[in-house]
Amino acid sequence: MQKPIIIAHRGASGYLPEHTIEAYQLAIDLGADFIEPDMVFTKDGHLIARHDHYLSTTTDVANHRQFADRKTTKDGHDGEDWFSEDFTLAEIKTLRAKQAMPQRSKQADGKFEIPTIAEVFALTRANGISAKRDVALGVYPETKLPGYFKSIGLDYQTALIAELKKANWWQDPFPLFVQSFESPILIEFKKSNPELPLIMLIEKKEDLALEQYAKFAAGIGPFKALLADGQGKSTGVIEQAHELGMQVHPWTFRSDQLPDVFASPQAEYDFFFDLGVDGVFTDFCNDAKAAKLARIARTIKE
Ligand code: G3P
Ligand code: CA
Repeated sequence: MQKPIIIAHRGASGYLPEHTIEAYQLAIDLGADFIEPDMVFTKDGHLIARHDHYLSTTTDVANHRQFADRKTTKDGHDGEDWFSEDFTLAEIKTLRAKQAMPQRSKQADGKFEIPTIAEVFALTRANGISAKRDVALGVYPETKLPGYFKSIGLDYQTALIAELKKANWWQDPFPLFVQSFESPILIEFKKSNPELPLIMLIEKKEDLALEQYAKFAAGIGPFKALLADGQGKSTGVIEQAHELGMQVHPWTFRSDQLPDVFASPQAEYDFFFDLGVDGVFTDFCNDAKAAKLARIARTIKE
């Protein structure tokens, strides 16, 4: 797979409701190398693709009168909501996804189901090497809130390994990275299954403990602003990660929320590609792919 890799952040989430099979499939058609499901648990221990365990922002749960009494409060969450861990998978399957961002199209609201990670792996498998692709599609699942879920008896280490076994990953692997903002779950995976490529997500400058992460991670997934200073120079994070043998996959590239300093999405991708990133998380795979192809074409002409 030619770098930088294009990671479809929550699917083609710039165009369709995030974390739906339809959004992942569109991302694949638009040039994704990896699709990115964030994961949370259902009450009966299934892994489903959602960014948050609260459901009101990305599903139509509020319209289901039979679930009105499930609205509740939880520690660490502001206000009342409905939470994935209070619903069985069968109940989750009655919900439909909706667009969470106000500036994006709502035309597909109410149409698509919430997928399980098993369904996402099946989609990944179905998009292996074929006439359409010469490199197998990869999947890049994120364990959301592993410490919280463990405290209520739901464990990603057990659940994700079981799903990968069901997907026959060890016998017939597809490209994979497992990511988290919480290092303990990654350290658990490193101990139980050192063959899994792990990515440590980093949001704040204070958390740039790269030497520590290199002991268990194949790479880091930093907030993109941590990679360059105000003058457009590298902060040294990419160089240090590379010296430690780790890849760097920053997030999140959004053509509809372009930072003021860039005149176009291509200018932003070019800047980060020149800095030396190994991949990008993007809501708009087609723009990332166009920037990557234009760069390859320039290199050939030079
Ligand atoms: O996982 C990389 C990036 O997606 C982190 O941000 O909040 O969209 O999961 P988030
Ligand atoms: Ca994520």
